[in-house]
Amino acid sequence: MKGIVLAGGTGSRLFPLTKITNKHLLPIYDRPMIYYPIQTLVDAGIRDIMIVTGGRNSGDFLRLLANGKEFGLKHINYTYQEGEGGIADALALAEHFADGQQICVVLGDNIIEGSIRAAAGQFRNQAVGAHILLKEVKDAERFGVAEVDGGRIVGIEEKPRQPKSNYAVTGIYMYDASVFEKIKTLVPSGRGELEITDVNNAYIREGTMTFSFLDGWWTDAGTFDSLLRATNLVAQSAVGKHSEEDVMEGTVQI
Ligand code: G1P
Repeated sequence: MKGIVLAGGTGSRLFPLTKITNKHLLPIYDRPMIYYPIQTLVDAGIRDIMIVTGGRNSGDFLRLLANGKEFGLKHINYTYQEGEGGIADALALAEHFADGQQICVVLGDNIIEGSIRAAAGQFRNQAVGAHILLKEVKDAERFGVAEVDGGRIVGIEEKPRQPKSNYAVTGIYMYDASVFEKIKTLVPSGRGELEITDVNNAYIREGTMTFSFLDGWWTDAGTFDSLLRATNLVAQSAVGKHSEEDVMEGTVQI
């Protein structure tokens, strides 16, 4: 399975932090944000990785990551997203790199405590389709939200006003090679982007979507609050195991 980290976009929700750099180069505790999704892939045994960047600061990724030596990699692939087409549009750029193999896609601002090794191992044995990782959250309206019925996902709604469950769809997606054909059938959403949720719903309609729940904490880092939360969670992990509440309430010194 090949790995893809999506690290484009304008990061407009973090303006002015993102006025002069790419969101995924901002610090999360002691590392640039993009280190975490790369480490997630490496920890899952995925060593053939492509970074999709964009905007004016894309050269900084090459300077920062080079050939991935810090992650024990021999080589990293890079590609460039023109414009602002959304997550699925960015993923479409990886078709040549995927070369017919299964892929694991991680959004560049998604940070996890645990590992996706088990899910990746299971997906390697899944002949066709896709696999997503869900996490129960209190603010589901900020995310893609999965409706689960009888152990199956029946649909995903992107940032619904009234979520049908508390199960957020995390930004970690495993796909078979048909994902690129599915992306070609998409039409832009209300915000003018090709949505990853529409890709996932295509797999659900086909009956080939499986899912599991992510262990440990998970956060995105695309807003001021979640950026702070990500830093606190990573710092907390660095100093030992405390409850997320303790850290957020400041009762743990980090
Ligand atoms: C994206 C996806 C959303 C997913 C989230 C995870 O949202 O569209 O379905 O739940 O990532 O981080 P974004 O926050 O990039 O708009």
